[in-house]
Amino acid sequence: MKVITIIGARPQFIKAAPFSEEFRKYGEEILVHTGQHYDTNMSDVFFKELGIPKPNYHLGVGSGSHGLQTGRMLEKIEEILIKEEPVGILVYGDTNSTLAGALAGSKLHIPVFHVEAGLRSYNKRMPEEQNRILTDHISELLLCPTETAVNNLKKEGITKGVINTGDLMYDTVLRNINLSNKWFDNGVWLKELKENYGLEADLKEKDYYLATIHRAENTDQPEKLKTIFNTFEKLDKPVIIPLHPRTKKILEAHNIELKNTKVIEPVGYLLMLYLTANSCMVVTDSGGLQKEAYFLETPCTTLRDQTEWVETLENGWNQLSSINVDSILEKVNRELTCFNHPQPLLFGDGQAAKKICNSILNRGN
Ligand code: UD1
Ligand code: UDP
Repeated sequence: MKVITIIGARPQFIKAAPFSEEFRKYGEEILVHTGQHYDTNMSDVFFKELGIPKPNYHLGVGSGSHGLQTGRMLEKIEEILIKEEPVGILVYGDTNSTLAGALAGSKLHIPVFHVEAGLRSYNKRMPEEQNRILTDHISELLLCPTETAVNNLKKEGITKGVINTGDLMYDTVLRNINLSNKWFDNGVWLKELKENYGLEADLKEKDYYLATIHRAENTDQPEKLKTIFNTFEKLDKPVIIPLHPRTKKILEAHNIELKNTKVIEPVGYLLMLYLTANSCMVVTDSGGLQKEAYFLETPCTTLRDQTEWVETLENGWNQLSSINVDSILEKVNRELTCFNHPQPLLFGDGQAAKKICNSILNRGN
């Protein structure tokens, strides 16, 4: 059975790792990298660390406006689909690479398998919300990470082909957390950050906040970014931020000053797991990182008005904050001692890759 899978952006590499390994035991995978992310530390590092197979095709699409980027991918993926004649095309998540793959497949009547189907923020201004709604509505297999996602699809009248497989990113965390500890324990993390990622400070475990910011809704308005970084200045501990290239560009263009903030280059996945598990709190607008903080029992403040990962809000483990100084400070400084960390059972049992493979292999049986 030949399946084409489309990847292109950082979180998709992390999702692809367990799926590719599992699927290749039973079927043929043709891996296509759109080139949406291309810096070494936004792409290559994940292939190396996670053992993701070398892509069969690299489209080299790069950055651009939504229409240009998606259009270029669509054109190139279509050519590959016509040549390879797969039985299905698998797409992950909600990026422009996801939508381009789904559209190319659907127009050629090639079944689309959507991993992370059914997530909704109910904010249609988000490019990700547009991508995931459109992808879900043209997919044949809707592989949901949670029961909430299954129910979201039901509300839109989609029940056929819907399967709760559990969350693929949970598989990746479970497979890599011990290795991450082995690599970075005993101060190696700090040495690594200083020698290879541009950290110029001494930090202690549990004595820093880990932040990531890249979401369009926070970066497209420099005023919002300024508010976020002004708030970081007022926190009681330093903030490490592996800076996404999108955010870096905007901070530089607007000369936004960073105080109490230690900027580093984007880090590899194993170091990121270590930093997440050992921070006192994650402060982020990332989708994936909210979940990883939850899996690793680190509290989180999410700098957004909505989250697709509503399970993480249980018991206040993750809390949302809109972008104003008082709200962010209130959420970050909230009392943590009363928390009981809920078990991540709502995200499956760490066997999502197996369940996704079985759903594809047994389709129509
Ligand atoms: C994309 C996804 C977003 C996802 C994020 C993961 C869409 C619409 N957005 O956002 O859902 O959460 O990836 O990180 O698909 N850049 C570089 N080097 C790179 C990649 C990007 O310099 O390797 C810079 C470019 O200036 C580019 C900008 O970052 O214009 C934004 O990149 P893009 O892929 O368009 O969107 P992301 O913000 O990364
Ligand atoms: N990540 C990483 N290095 C970093 C920042 C993030 O490995 O410097 C990982 C993070 O642990 C998670 C994924 O990238 O697994 C999340 O990707 P991102 O935040 O870019 O996208 P989103 O999940 O918001 O779509």
